[in-house]
Amino acid sequence: MQVERRITAIAFDAYGTLFDVFSIGALAEELFSGKGTALATMWRDKQLEYARIRTMCGRFADFWTVTADALDYCCERLGLTADAALQARLMQQYAELSGYPGDLEALHHIKGLGLKVGMLSNGSARMLNSAITAASMDGLFDPVISVDPARRFKTAPEAYQLGPDGFGCPVEEILFVSANGWDVCGATWFGYTTFWLNRAGLPAERLGVEPHATGRTMGEVVRFVEASARR
Ligand code: LAC
Repeated sequence: MQVERRITAIAFDAYGTLFDVFSIGALAEELFSGKGTALATMWRDKQLEYARIRTMCGRFADFWTVTADALDYCCERLGLTADAALQARLMQQYAELSGYPGDLEALHHIKGLGLKVGMLSNGSARMLNSAITAASMDGLFDPVISVDPARRFKTAPEAYQLGPDGFGCPVEEILFVSANGWDVCGATWFGYTTFWLNRAGLPAERLGVEPHATGRTMGEVVRFVEASARR
């Protein structure tokens, strides 16, 4: 896919894009046999729902708090007996999510292309730094931008604005890469050049907007960036 735009920077979304939010499923399954997948899926959905509600109503709480609240709700909803210590174990796992196989090599390759490579995430700075270290990604991203200063989560424009502010370049020069369909739609509306890393092969969102490019692997992100750099 070709896009006639100059790319000088790449901003990666974090959760679901670089860090596998469903990798907590194994621990969840060990703790709650037969319900691990249900918990992992519901937890992610509820986390995003709370982030949106808090943003829409101007009631910001950081992503760690939102994530913990979502977990607490999901445990009750699924009838799981999860005391504070068990929930703390699951939260600790969230702070140390796995990356995706093969991504590290691709990310180092992208870093070597000479573009600015950073992150723009709903996660709080502390969560992001912890996840970066756990996934052996230290030193790969600069800047690491949390939406915290905007006190709004993506897809609020104030959150996306932190990208051009943090990278110090025009928004259209930033390739925003996210595995979350809703996130690439929001970023495209805001003005980023966008790549939907559609890992799960999901259908396109029906929002009347399309990402500039789509692929299923980080390798395809590499090829897209290389083709853009050649122009
Ligand atoms: C992030 C979540 C929403 O911003 O994926 O990292």
